[in-house]
Amino acid sequence: MKFQAIIFDLDGVICFTDEYHYRAWKSMADSMGIPFDREINNRLRGVSRMASLEIILEKYQGPALSQEKKEQLARQKNDIYRESLKEMSTRDLSDEVRETLDALRAMGLKLAIGSSSKNTPFILGQIGLKGYFDAVSDGNNITRSKPDPEVFVKAAQMLGVAPEKCLVVEDAVSGAEAGHAGGMKVACLGDAALNKAGDWNMKSIRELVDIAK
Ligand code: BG6
Ligand code: MG
Repeated sequence: MKFQAIIFDLDGVICFTDEYHYRAWKSMADSMGIPFDREINNRLRGVSRMASLEIILEKYQGPALSQEKKEQLARQKNDIYRESLKEMSTRDLSDEVRETLDALRAMGLKLAIGSSSKNTPFILGQIGLKGYFDAVSDGNNITRSKPDPEVFVKAAQMLGVAPEKCLVVEDAVSGAEAGHAGGMKVACLGDAALNKAGDWNMKSIRELVDIAK
């Protein structure tokens, strides 16, 4: 088998929290009169909360914002986002994701999460995947967000698997770049697949079963 482990991004791959991120940022941006649309949103995929805010503020035209104000805006977004997360349940884990994870595990592969999100533990709990993965590397244990490879390198270390034996699954161009920078192969979905950022660009996560063979 080509790989010993698969490292999954969370938002936009395992669950569709990417839409909740968009709505929460949109609400924050509207409250500040900052233009924000789905095209700008695509640049936020995989990027940490504070780095995302800086991208949104590129279109801000008011007086300079203090660090404290920026942190307040990031908190405002996260509070709205967390309200959406509270509504999530095991119903938000699709059959295709659950069946694919189980099939990959049955093939003997180790499975991990590599996400920039500090909300990762909460989301995994909501969708019934707490304790499912062999390793969870997330926004709480990294200092540099994607496209830096840190989050994936740490996941591989936690698993004890060499980078070249890991396959990263991503919906973000920044995440695909991070996987490649970490010396890993990358299979993409969604926006990253549309941008042909992966070694494989998939229509469905089910394709992983053949890719990993
Ligand atoms: C990534 C998302 O998974 O997590 C980004 O793709 C998000 O859009 C980042 O900004 C950080 O998330 P959180 O939950 O820590 O604000
Ligand atoms: Mg993502």
